[in-house]
Amino acid sequence: MKFSLADKQTEIKFVSFRELTVWCQKGCFYIIDANIDREYPEICGNLNHKYLFAALEENKTLVKAEDIISCLLLNGANRESHLIAIGGGITCDLAGWVAANYMRGCQLSFIPTSLIAMIDAALGGKTALNFQGSKNLIGSFYPASQVLIATDFIKSLSSKMLLAGKAELVKTALLQKGELLPLLRQDNWIEPETLLEIIMNAVNFKMTICTLDPYDKKQRRLLNLGHTFAHVIESALNYQVEHGRAVAIGIAAAANLSFIRNMIDIKRYDNILQLLQDSFPQNYFFVDSREFAVIEKKGQEFFLHDKKAGKTSRVVLFNGINDVIITEAVSWQEILASINTYENKGGFNA
Ligand SMILES: NC(=O)c1ccc[n+]([C@@H]2O[C@H](COP(=O)([O-])OP(=O)(O)OC[C@H]3O[C@@H](n4cnc5c(N)ncnc54)[C@H](O)[C@@H]3O)[C@@H](O)[C@H]2O)c1
Repeated sequence: MKFSLADKQTEIKFVSFRELTVWCQKGCFYIIDANIDREYPEICGNLNHKYLFAALEENKTLVKAEDIISCLLLNGANRESHLIAIGGGITCDLAGWVAANYMRGCQLSFIPTSLIAMIDAALGGKTALNFQGSKNLIGSFYPASQVLIATDFIKSLSSKMLLAGKAELVKTALLQKGELLPLLRQDNWIEPETLLEIIMNAVNFKMTICTLDPYDKKQRRLLNLGHTFAHVIESALNYQVEHGRAVAIGIAAAANLSFIRNMIDIKRYDNILQLLQDSFPQNYFFVDSREFAVIEKKGQEFFLHDKKAGKTSRVVLFNGINDVIITEAVSWQEILASINTYENKGGFNA
């Protein structure tokens, strides 16, 4: 698949491990999640110029980016150099930011290893660093020229990470209203053939939206469904909750807020909650009382921080029978009340 994002082309290829090994040549600079380097010696073992790091949110920072830049400089990287990121969303966001800025931009490719990175983070060109506790506060648009997707990486994902990826897929299915939902509802959604179809479908959807709106000014903003809530939850809980689970909680919170604002009726509300219930283990998409207490105490600061930066003045909500819209002027009280559902309640705490 080839997509044109603004003035850059992104080629997306589905490849086997064998093809990947041949493609990963010496002479490039690799930024690799240390877990992947350890888990996949057949791919990462023989590469020169490797920068290994722990894929943690606290490392998606200017400090880590500066360290990578120092290493690139020390090893003679120039603006013709090719940077290749191998890892999940954290690795893609960090490596993307470095590639966009090193000598005003060098060549960038992604080899995404998590489900979230394959269907989302490696696509569409958003690079991001966290700053002073605020998620993705610093970034730019810098699409990779190539994204090589090897779905075999999924085999080593923990069940936690798999569910986190599923949460982004559920978000996509809710927005897309197409073939993805029935595929995801299959018991064998994780079987290689079905999963490949699901990933191809989600990739196509994201790239189509990003091609229409590369700089996130119109339709692309709808992809933020659940994310305003998710950013507050992740930041307040100091990233002790996976991004995907925070998105699942955010989708439930968006349904709550849409219902309380009379934007959707009880039938649509129940359908959304039912989909979440069918897709995830019990209580996956609710915060527990301990988590809620922390969000109540610390969340407003991050919400206001994001709002000041223009990031949370718009929240994606459900609307009518089948629609989603971007809503302006949502208050902290509404965000907090929408998250306040607790485990086992299974509904809005009004
Ligand atoms: N730029 C974007 O458009 C965009 C979109 C979505 C998410 N993101 C960002 O992506 C990040 C979340 O990324 P993520 O959920 O992909 O994971 P991650 O990069 O946060 O990694 C989470 C854990 O999974 C491990 N992991 C990754 N691939 C693995 C594999 N194949 N086998 C075993 N373990 C593996 C990592 O080592 C790490 O321990 C967040 O920071 C989020 O903000 C960015």
